[in-house]
Order: sequence, then structure tokens, then C-alpha cells
Amino acid sequence: MENFTQQYNAYKGIFEAALSDYLSKITLSPPVLQESFRYSLQIGGKRLRPVLMFACARMLGGKEQDVAPFAVALEMIHTYSLVHDDLPGMDNDDFRRGQPSNHKKFGVGQAILAGDALLNEAYALCFQESRRGRTYLNAAEQICLNAGARGMIAGQAADLFYEGSETAGKSEAEFIVRNKTAKMLVSAVTVPAYVYGMDENILSLLAEYGKNLGFLFQITDDMLDVSGNFEKLGKTVGKDERENKLSYVRLYGMEECRSMAEHYCGICEKVLDALPFESDFFMETARSVLKREY
Ligand code: IPE
Ligand code: IPE
Ligand code: MG
Ligand code: MG
Ligand code: MG
Repeated sequence: MENFTQQYNAYKGIFEAALSDYLSKITLSPPVLQESFRYSLQIGGKRLRPVLMFACARMLGGKEQDVAPFAVALEMIHTYSLVHDDLPGMDNDDFRRGQPSNHKKFGVGQAILAGDALLNEAYALCFQESRRGRTYLNAAEQICLNAGARGMIAGQAADLFYEGSETAGKSEAEFIVRNKTAKMLVSAVTVPAYVYGMDENILSLLAEYGKNLGFLFQITDDMLDVSGNFEKLGKTVGKDERENKLSYVRLYGMEECRSMAEHYCGICEKVLDALPFESDFFMETARSVLKREY
């Protein structure tokens, strides 16, 4: 797909506009909360989850505006997960998205609160959207379930719990990635399908794509933690080894990780073939994650 990057950037631009619009409508007090809340959100990042959500809305015959508040909510939850992930009690990372982490800028206490604020405001957006009808309510519920105690938080808890473990192995690593990373991507691609009331078959194919893309994404993240560089990634490298994380690289080694990433990319392709829609953008997304350097 020649214009993949162009299309990606177009979706990203629509998201940045939706985010600015949302932020222009709320003013938080005290000023430190206003700043810490906006800081991590506005530094940016790849915006992969909102981009996927918009692309999915388009693929299903809808438009970005139908799901824009959900895209903002999901990116807010993702951003809060990174703010908390970087805290000294978690991964203790001083940089994120090329800038000092939230706690480096505002202190640990304010960073915890900024994360909490991002999460709670995201829920408020989900509630607001749910008023539009039952299909919106179903979409909102998915976001909450995949981000919560049966989703991303479970993965983050396991990620910390198995740090340095001598006995944890492949099934624990699989649990970590499925929950901490894959489920947020499942939300990104299933939310539009819930909003448009798509059938079970479509929903499960999209969830399958999101899950496999999640594995592909986290395996490349683990590899980049070894072979990537700070300038491109915007975050410190070599942390997983120092913290003795139960990462795919530690378990399988770089070479095997490369073939596992290819394997997950192949599954994404198969799943997309089974979808009765034109899904080139999603295939190109998987391929670009496989090749990514940031
Ligand atoms: C980082 O996510 C956390 C992982 C799931 C590995 P991203 O790599 O999508 O982070 P940003 O949003 O682009 O900064
Ligand atoms: C984080 O995984 C996944 C989240 C849910 C935040 P990592 O801890 O590997 O992400 P980075 O490397 O700090 O971005
Ligand atoms: Mg982490
Ligand atoms: Mg981390
Ligand atoms: Mg990482």
C-alpha cells in the first residue's frame, strides 16, 4: 500500500484534532493537575490505538467522528498506563516519548494523580457516549473490561510479579503480553464493530487480529529494548534486562523472537483474509510493526 504512511498520518491528524477539541473544553484545578494531565497526552506518541480505531470505523463503512470520543478515551487510558508504568515503583523510567517522564517533571505523587485523572476522565467520556444507545454502551464496556482488572492491569500486575522469577516461564509471559498489551489493541479494533452492531463473526475476527497484533507489537517492543536506540524510541533502552523482566527476549532470545514476530504477522494476515472487508491498511499496520524501529 503506497499511501500507507499518508493514510496513517491522516488518521493521526484527525485524532490530534479530536484530542485538542476535548482538551479545550476542560480546565482542571489546581494548575499542576491541568499541566500534568496534559503533559503526557500532548507529547504525543505513535497514536496507534486511535489510528486503528479510525481505520476500523472506515473499513466498516462508518466515519472517524462516530468513535472519536472512544478514541480519545482509549488513548487517555493508554497514556495513564504509561505514566504509571514509568513510576519508580514500577519500571522506574526517567524518559517517555523523548521527554522526562511525568513523575520526573511533576513528582511521583502528582504523576500518580495525573494517571488517575486520565483514567477517570476516560470513563466519564465512555459514560457520556453510552447515552447514545445500547451499541455504544457495549463498546464502552469493552474498553473498560480490556483496560481493567481482567485486562491491562492484570498484565501489568503479572509483569511486576514475575520480575526476576526463576520459575516463571512461557505461559506466564504469554499471560503478561495478552493482557498488558494485546487487550488494549483488541479494544482499538473492536470498538467500531460494537458501535455499528456487527455480528459475532466479525467481532471475533477483529479481536483475533487485535490480539495477534498485540503479541507482534510487544515482541518487537522487547526486541527494541535490546537493539533500539533512545533517539528513535524516546525511552531508555536495556531496562528489561536490568530489571530482569520476563520478556520474550529473555525467554526465547533475539533470533527466535524475530521468527515469532513474523509468525504473529502471518496470523494477522490470515485473519484479515477471512474478513469480508478491504483490510489493506491493517495488513500494512502489522507489517510496519514487524519492521518498526520506534
Ligand atoms: C508502549 O506503547 C507500551 C507498550 C505496549 C509496549 P506505544 O509504543 O504504543 O507507546 P506510544 O503511545 O507510541 O508512546
Ligand atoms: C508496558 O510494557 C505495557 C503497558 C501496559 C504500559 P513496557 O513496560 O515494556 O512498555 P515500555 O517499554 O515501558 O514502553
Ligand atoms: Mg512495564
Ligand atoms: Mg516500561
Ligand atoms: Mg518495553
